[in-house]
Amino acid sequence: MVRTRPDLAAARDAMIGTVAVVMTMGALHEGHATLLRAARESADHVIVTIFVNPLQFGPNEDFDRYPRTFDADFELCRRAGVDLVFAPSPAEIYPAGEPAVRVNPGPLGERLEGSSRPGFFHGVLTVVLKFLQLTRPDLAFFGEKDYQQLALIRLMARDLEVPVRIVGVPTVRESDGLALSSRNRYLSAPERQAALSLSAALRAAADAAARGLGGDAAIAAGRAVFQEREGAELDYLVLTDPDLGPAPESGAARILVAARVGATRLIDNAPAHLAPTAPAN
Ligand code: PAF
Repeated sequence: MVRTRPDLAAARDAMIGTVAVVMTMGALHEGHATLLRAARESADHVIVTIFVNPLQFGPNEDFDRYPRTFDADFELCRRAGVDLVFAPSPAEIYPAGEPAVRVNPGPLGERLEGSSRPGFFHGVLTVVLKFLQLTRPDLAFFGEKDYQQLALIRLMARDLEVPVRIVGVPTVRESDGLALSSRNRYLSAPERQAALSLSAALRAAADAAARGLGGDAAIAAGRAVFQEREGAELDYLVLTDPDLGPAPESGAARILVAARVGATRLIDNAPAHLAPTAPAN
């Protein structure tokens, strides 16, 4: 485990063969463990970064209360066969304070999460680019749970010529459908029950899409779940193409949802297939 740039550089220089990085904010769970396994299977060395990035939290967000569970995180990394954990302080990553220059996520970064959390993706892409420069990986693994983040990281790597292969890993869920998230720790038992509205809405929308009812009816079916159940306040539920562009008439699509449960904001998404709609009589 290293905490400084010089120690990271020395450890990285000693790695021979392919290197994969998994970037995290700690509070690791089985979703992260799945990322680590995918990385372990694909590269000779695995680096994990653990850093709660202040740049991606808004003034009224949960930076201070974000779960910090370093000992358990380190143990999970050790058991997963991770070669190196980089756990820097904010001063190590931002030695001159908040950076004046940040990565601009462009139009996709203004929608959905970017609209609800202004500046969020500037903070995410800036720290991801910094960690890519510092760890110099061949491969970088990110969860599909943060689907818009994954799409933007892919765009950044493409548009800014970052020499890394970005690999997306499917979301891990509890048996009742709840997507694993570090923020699930905030939920009381009734809130956890209410949080099932997100995955239930995704299933309802995907079912309607697969039955050929069309994109609008699919979204209406998902919204109905939030109307029928209590405790989760819907922020958005949208159907897009797999690259987050406009919804296709038919074929592969993505459904994304965000909702507030008590004081906790949760997001989730799922693939969908829009069957051709039946022609009107
Ligand atoms: O997904 C996360 O945990 C964070 O946004 C990331 C990619 C580690 C950047 O801080």
